[in-house]
Amino acid sequence: MIDREQIGIRIAALRKKAGWSQQTLAEKLGVSPQAVSKWESGKNLPDIDVFRELAWLFHMTMDSIVEGDLLFTQKSGQKALPPNVEALFPDEERRRLLQSFLPYCSDAELYSIAREISEGSLKLCVQAGITRIDAHSGGKAEERRASIPASILGENTLRETAPYFVKVLGEMMGNAEPGLRRISELLCCPQCREPLTLENRDENTISFHCKNDHSYNVTDGVVYFGSREIPGEQWSLFMKNYQDYLYEQHHPGNPRYQTGTIPCSEVRWQAIKQLRPRVILDMACGTCSGLKYDLQRINWPCLVIMADLSHRILKYNKRYFSEEMANPYVDIVCLACDCTRLPLRDGCIDMVVSNGGFESMQSKMMAGFREAYRVLKPGGHAVYNISIVEDHASENTAKWERLYRTLEDSYHLSEKLFDIREWESICAETGYVSTQTKKIYGELPAPEDDVFPFTNEVMQWMGEYLCISGK
Ligand SMILES: C[S@@+](CC[C@H](N)C(=O)[O-])C[C@H]1O[C@@H](n2cnc3c(N)ncnc32)[C@H](O)[C@@H]1O
Ligand SMILES: [Zn+2]
Repeated sequence: MIDREQIGIRIAALRKKAGWSQQTLAEKLGVSPQAVSKWESGKNLPDIDVFRELAWLFHMTMDSIVEGDLLFTQKSGQKALPPNVEALFPDEERRRLLQSFLPYCSDAELYSIAREISEGSLKLCVQAGITRIDAHSGGKAEERRASIPASILGENTLRETAPYFVKVLGEMMGNAEPGLRRISELLCCPQCREPLTLENRDENTISFHCKNDHSYNVTDGVVYFGSREIPGEQWSLFMKNYQDYLYEQHHPGNPRYQTGTIPCSEVRWQAIKQLRPRVILDMACGTCSGLKYDLQRINWPCLVIMADLSHRILKYNKRYFSEEMANPYVDIVCLACDCTRLPLRDGCIDMVVSNGGFESMQSKMMAGFREAYRVLKPGGHAVYNISIVEDHASENTAKWERLYRTLEDSYHLSEKLFDIREWESICAETGYVSTQTKKIYGELPAPEDDVFPFTNEVMQWMGEYLCISGK
């Protein structure tokens, strides 16, 4: 849904930033000042031709005005440059360049980049490739490159190229990968709750440690806080190697591994897109089938934390998502830990997601749910599907519930099946100020006989609702 009011607010903000009155903007676009006033108050949208012209005037893409993007959120959510970096750069151009790097690096890192630029040992440019084919000499191609200094790039290009620059800069400076660097500001020691700092002795020995000398290694790309493979859980033991994992991920026959967009992920994506979280935590992520479809669509700087008790799953997630679904805007960090005791500081996460994760936490559903609340920022959101039913009394539901109790592992799928009202009151008790439930699928009819062709049917029946709870 296009949000006219937000678009109006953005147009007004851009106009004011340019120092123009409504009249001036109207003249530039050849429309009446009343038209501008109606856009800004959300009563109307500009015609598409005019909109294109308007975006061009402000050096924006139409999409960034419609969707809102960093250039807007920066004003409110973005940290300023650290003072030691500011001091190095009196000129506005280079400050803009470093400002665009800010979401992707730590202050210390930004300072070392800034220092090298100021000393002249680091030069950043964008390369344009030019090929000219000469028809007279048998189609011989002449190739040339033009280097464009990064400091003269427009804001949109800077925003789009920043993650690419920072990734390579990190590699050149021998730093750990960006996700690990960014998460060090959020981690705390699960034993003493002191902050953890990253120690990066060489490429192969990366660890986090606290001032009391507790330390946690990064193995196979996963930060290790303790792990347990859960017998009987296909997620943790079924996949023996990466090939199995790929096979499962791509298998079209099993409804759990559908490819493409499924309604649940579409509803979740709408929520994610609207809230534009900078840090997302997937609780008991398993194979991360919940967030999977969203990871490639994120086009703002985002740190995604996948947390699960199974180190094995995370190790494959880490590879799968960086090899098959690399997105320069998204840094992925995997934490092997118990999600009822996350190694994360209070209030450091913008959005918690959980795709049937809470209720599969080995009879620790509520503990996990409360922990999610603890790590969320005030104003943050939890977006999750949970095994709730609409109405215990319905025939269909009663049949499903009976079938569900015959399952051997039903004990850890859920301690209790709540209905929507019960669940809303649990959210309120936990401290959430608002909870919305959205129906995803139509009601799944119960099978005629008493067998499940797929255990997944149970999940589909229970996972009918996506909840969005605000802290
Ligand atoms: C059914 S999967 C959840 C589905 C998953 N979100 C997905 O999208 O594929 C259950 C996961 O919960 C994890 N798990 C169970 N108890 C846990 C706990 N206390 N802390 C963290 N993870 C846990 C298991 O290792 C398993 O990977
Ligand atoms: Zn400690």
